[in-house]
Amino acid sequence: MRLDHIGLNVGDLPAMTTWYAAALDLTVEFEFALDDVDLRGVLLRSPAGFRLELLCRAGNTAGMRPADPADAALTRGYGHVAFDVPDVDAWHARLLAAGAAERMSPRPSPEPGVRMSYVSDPEANLIELLDRMQGRAPSYRFLHSKVPFQTPLAGKIALITGVGGGMGAMAASMFAAAGARVVGCDIDAGAAARTEATVRAEGGQITAMGGVDLGDPEQARSWVDAAVEVYGGIDVLYNNASTQRFGALDELGVEDWDFTMRNELSLVYYTVRAAWPHLKRHGGGSIINVGSIAALRGVEFMAQNAHSAAKGGVLALTLQLVVEGGPYGIRANAISPGLTETPNTAPLLADPPERLRRLVLDRIPLGRHGRAEDVVHAAIFLASDESSWISGSNIVIDGGASVLG
Ligand SMILES: NC(=O)c1ccc[n+]([C@@H]2O[C@H](COP(=O)([O-])OP(=O)(O)OC[C@H]3O[C@@H](n4cnc5c(N)ncnc54)[C@H](O)[C@@H]3O)[C@@H](O)[C@H]2O)c1
Repeated sequence: MRLDHIGLNVGDLPAMTTWYAAALDLTVEFEFALDDVDLRGVLLRSPAGFRLELLCRAGNTAGMRPADPADAALTRGYGHVAFDVPDVDAWHARLLAAGAAERMSPRPSPEPGVRMSYVSDPEANLIELLDRMQGRAPSYRFLHSKVPFQTPLAGKIALITGVGGGMGAMAASMFAAAGARVVGCDIDAGAAARTEATVRAEGGQITAMGGVDLGDPEQARSWVDAAVEVYGGIDVLYNNASTQRFGALDELGVEDWDFTMRNELSLVYYTVRAAWPHLKRHGGGSIINVGSIAALRGVEFMAQNAHSAAKGGVLALTLQLVVEGGPYGIRANAISPGLTETPNTAPLLADPPERLRRLVLDRIPLGRHGRAEDVVHAAIFLASDESSWISGSNIVIDGGASVLG
């Protein structure tokens, strides 16, 4: 199959993706990343027979252009439009008219809009290009398929606790899809392994360690140190894990209280404490602590004194981390979910008792209960550089419920 190619300099991958999609009526087919060579790319297709491949790599791209320090951000690189239509000149003219290219050349070149031709298998071309760079068959992972281009956590190393649970598994998956390299843990080894397998099957980069009890300061430290050893640092620490015991004040035992404090509050402290020197050495990072709206007001439908107090402690600790971490570039924020659907709560929400419906579900201004992704979207923002001047916030994610008291 003979293809005509137009070489492009990619100065801003998301912006160029959007521009070409609009200019040639293309849709994003997939984005991919090759983390071992710091390469990111996007493939767009048109029903008229175009394939647009934009590749960005830190350093030299396909041996065709010199290294540029700005490439480290993985937004600059090399791209080409591959035409496999008979009237290629007409389509090329359309691109020129849209302002894409000024000059044409018979040779491969990194100049903007330069035209080149060579024989290639349309399906293998990208792979060939990557092969030439690496001298080996690459394995690439899909970040998204048919979704808008967005990798706000590209290259970030994110430690997430409790990845075996509902929100933690979602966080591992969404953080990886957003470009993060995830190191997870959970006390439940089977659940951690399942999340690791799922995220890898989705093409994400993750190492999840099972059997880690973060309520033990030594285990918290070992996990954090192992994560730093694997990836070389920490950009994000997302304290999601917790277990608690519920019961009315005069029914909950002291042991239950202690258990809840250990597994909701102390584990956050131990993990932060273990990560602190690495974050300082790294020049800062983002700590995200999961609180709860139970810490902000009394909860009527179910007694949860120990849980509420522990989460109140998490919020107070977060504020103190803001002050102690600020001089080192460490940010600390909290997210406080309302009742959220996870595998644990799904049966309850599918058939809620009358009291739960009356006191909680019917009183959510936005008219639905939360989903794990509602919470994780906020965490992704707090993990990203877009929130680099936000420290000490507590994002309440409850459909507006807590303003009702
Ligand atoms: N689901 C909700 O409605 C809701 C509402 C408000 C706040 N939250 C908070 O959101 C977070 C996630 O909740 P979820 O619903 O996904 O819970 P979940 O129970 O599904 O997941 C929590 C995970 O943490 C792990 N874990 C518990 N103790 C641990 C320990 N000592 N060491 C290591 N791992 C441990 C568990 O094994 C589990 O996999 C929690 O902090 C929770 O308090 C949840």
